Amino acid sequence: MPNTILIGAQWGDEGKGKIIDVLTERVDWVVRAQGGNNAGHTVEIGEERFVLHLVPSGILHEGKRCVIGNGVVLDPVALVEEIRGVTERGFGVEGRLFISDRAHAVFPYHRMLDAQGEARRAKGDQIGTTLRGIGPAYGDKASRFGLRMCDLIDPDFPGLLRSRVEDKNRVLAALGAPVVDYDEVLAATQSALDVLRPLICDTVPLLHGAVSRGESMLFEGAQGIMLDIDFGTYPYVTSSNAGSGGASTGSGVPPHRMSRVVGVVKAYTTRVGEGPFPTELLDADGEEIRRVGREFGATTGRPRRCGWFDAVVARHAVMTCGVDEWALTKMDVLDGFKTLKICTAYELDGRRIDAVPANIREMSRCRPVYEEMPGWLSTTRGATRREDLPEAARQYMARLEEITGVPVGIVSLGPRREDTLLPEGRP
Ligand code: GDP
Ligand code: IMO
Ligand code: MG
Repeated sequence: MPNTILIGAQWGDEGKGKIIDVLTERVDWVVRAQGGNNAGHTVEIGEERFVLHLVPSGILHEGKRCVIGNGVVLDPVALVEEIRGVTERGFGVEGRLFISDRAHAVFPYHRMLDAQGEARRAKGDQIGTTLRGIGPAYGDKASRFGLRMCDLIDPDFPGLLRSRVEDKNRVLAALGAPVVDYDEVLAATQSALDVLRPLICDTVPLLHGAVSRGESMLFEGAQGIMLDIDFGTYPYVTSSNAGSGGASTGSGVPPHRMSRVVGVVKAYTTRVGEGPFPTELLDADGEEIRRVGREFGATTGRPRRCGWFDAVVARHAVMTCGVDEWALTKMDVLDGFKTLKICTAYELDGRRIDAVPANIREMSRCRPVYEEMPGWLSTTRGATRREDLPEAARQYMARLEEITGVPVGIVSLGPRREDTLLPEGRP
């Protein structure tokens, strides 16, 4: 398989973890390039369920190598916990997981500032972050105040940390918030580093060598394009580039070495956290999607907001990420719906528009323009080829292809590896 970027084409939780797991067989490397442990990627293998936050989902395939790239912000203590979890379940990381020495660290003060930031916003203006410290950590990166893995393993680290903690404690104290204890943070980080130190390296020559040898890579996007800091519903976004551009800046692998972009898209839409969502359903249909699709956050457990498929959003992903093919997930969740709706455009102040507006106040006023299609009212489970799917399901997919201008490659009909239709049959 050529070097492939996999991105979420909606507001995250599209089923990226599952699709990565299916595709990992065909590649040598799986690379995370942005986000942090705000991500929650679920992989189900038989009766076992794994939720990965920082460790690339490829770790669940023996022999595949995984990279946490420079664009990721990582909480060392959380990462060690996650590594312990997968190791205990039989997936060792030694010689298989590499952490960029340029990746920025997330510290407890970032998490506290994340919570403070949310609390200080006026009621109704909260972003609904995952409270993992992601925004403040990327903020420090942009402000050139962050500490990177190379700093953490440097003999000067205690001093570097002390100056950060002192500065952040002044801010926290001014906000009337509890401050952090330097000694505790230092001790916890050093104990995490006992595990992480052997994994930290310069991943640029590592990946360059792999590319030169013709080894193939899969870039595991986190979040989704509508949460992208540039192209999402700003300010209701995360703090990194969740689109395909982030794969290159966040790994050091140049853009022209990547040949294909797979956009993971649910057959409907969900969002967790605040912010505009034109096709959101606040009725029984929305409840039904949440119930059948088990739409509760993999990281925070929050109920996800649910709505119909939004082709304006999907086309936004196509334009900004260069999606070559869709991995269409959760088709099975629509099995019981008599009528399905697809949003083809928005109505904004009496005008029809077919692109996502930059202005958040305008986006909040957008009303979906729907077309209806008949549901299939039968099960998609057990289908082994696209031709086995009910006629109405095939028509729904064909309409999504037509309206977005991008073909559907993989079709996912359930959370497990087996519940997947690859273009040429089962995995
Ligand atoms: P990610 O963040 O994009 O990796 O997605 P999450 O793991 O947060 O959420 C997707 C959820 O849907 C997980 O619970 C998956 O196990 C589940 N899932 C993935 N694909 C399918 C599918 O085709 N059908 C059903 N019913 N569930 C799926
Ligand atoms: P995966 O990779 C869904 C959302 C949060 C919030 C906003 C900002 O599993 O698809 P942050 O903590 O990043 O500052 O929160 O982004 N968010 C996600 N929503 N899936 C994710 O990741 C998300 N990561 C962040 O809910 O609205
Ligand atoms: Mg998720």
